[in-house]
Amino acid sequence: MSARVFWAPGRVNLIGEFTDLVGGPVLPAALDLGVRIEAEAAETIDLCSHELGGRARLAADGSPLGDENEGWARYVAAVAVELALLGRPAAGLEGEISSTLPIGAGLSSSAALEVAAGLALCAAAGFSLEPLELAQAARRAEHRAVGVPCGILDQAASLLGRAGSAVLLDTGSLAYEYIPLPAGLALVIIDSGVSRRLESSGYATRQEEVERALAAFTGRDPTEITLAELETAEAKGRLDSIAARRLRHAISEGERVREVARLLGDPTPASLQRLGEVFAAGHESVRSDWEASTPELDLLVELAREKGAIAARMTGGGFGGSIVALAWTDEAEGLADAVLGAYESHADAQAKAYVCRASDGAREIS
Ligand code: GLA
Repeated sequence: MSARVFWAPGRVNLIGEFTDLVGGPVLPAALDLGVRIEAEAAETIDLCSHELGGRARLAADGSPLGDENEGWARYVAAVAVELALLGRPAAGLEGEISSTLPIGAGLSSSAALEVAAGLALCAAAGFSLEPLELAQAARRAEHRAVGVPCGILDQAASLLGRAGSAVLLDTGSLAYEYIPLPAGLALVIIDSGVSRRLESSGYATRQEEVERALAAFTGRDPTEITLAELETAEAKGRLDSIAARRLRHAISEGERVREVARLLGDPTPASLQRLGEVFAAGHESVRSDWEASTPELDLLVELAREKGAIAARMTGGGFGGSIVALAWTDEAEGLADAVLGAYESHADAQAKAYVCRASDGAREIS
């Protein structure tokens, strides 16, 4: 192949945080920020990047060549290994990676890199996978690269995104549908400046805790357990209070996802008011039941509401990263500036805002 260009966006999750760890629903949108790979087929994999720094030098099956493969190269290597396991013929790539996604902001820069690399590697070998097969391979690559037991949210959102819509994905069955966003709605993302690193966060601990809770309901589909059943089980001492809180978040969050999808389909003033309440409840649940918020994220959410956002909550894997606020397009920049200004006088960290729109998913662009 002569040089071809591949694009994979980052994502913002509107609601449905950590529900992919129990097969529940999520509601992400792909962003207009992402990772671009321009490359041509070669014998080995040789990719460089100014923004990310450094180079990936690998054999076509993902095994390392030389000792330059630090940092982001691990993700490319892991994708190549996962694709080889699915039967991708050994073909390399030579070219360049660039990215407009902030790293550590909770907008899935690693998933975007995995997906872009996956598309480019498949194209180089004339190999093709369905979007959700590639998403699953990229998710396994994340586990392989950094040992994080993440769900399918990030990689699926990057592949399935559609301009103007959010994706309502059932992470258990992988069935999905598009939820058109109200015309004129902007996604205001504010990075708290407190960077998150999944592998060093409490993400894995939270997953163990929710699994401990599920062990009290052996044989049950986690998404069918009700809050009332959970309460009874806790009262009878069948699960400890930490495990119960984690599962309570996952169950209640699933209900909120379904409600938000309904409200977005009928954006009357009353629905928008309710949207704000549901986002607020979602944030509170991540804060107190899942315990993955930070004081900076709490502050940003409070400021966004105070400055007129329709709805605001933390988004992504937590323990740092960003919030998402919904605002009308003509008010979005003003909201972002007002929040940044107020944050500056309260917090030590430097926040950054991105006014985004829901965008198309990963693809070859030329
Ligand atoms: C990270 C993970 C996702 C998901 C979110 C929280 O982004 O990679 O699978 O669990 O956190 O919703």
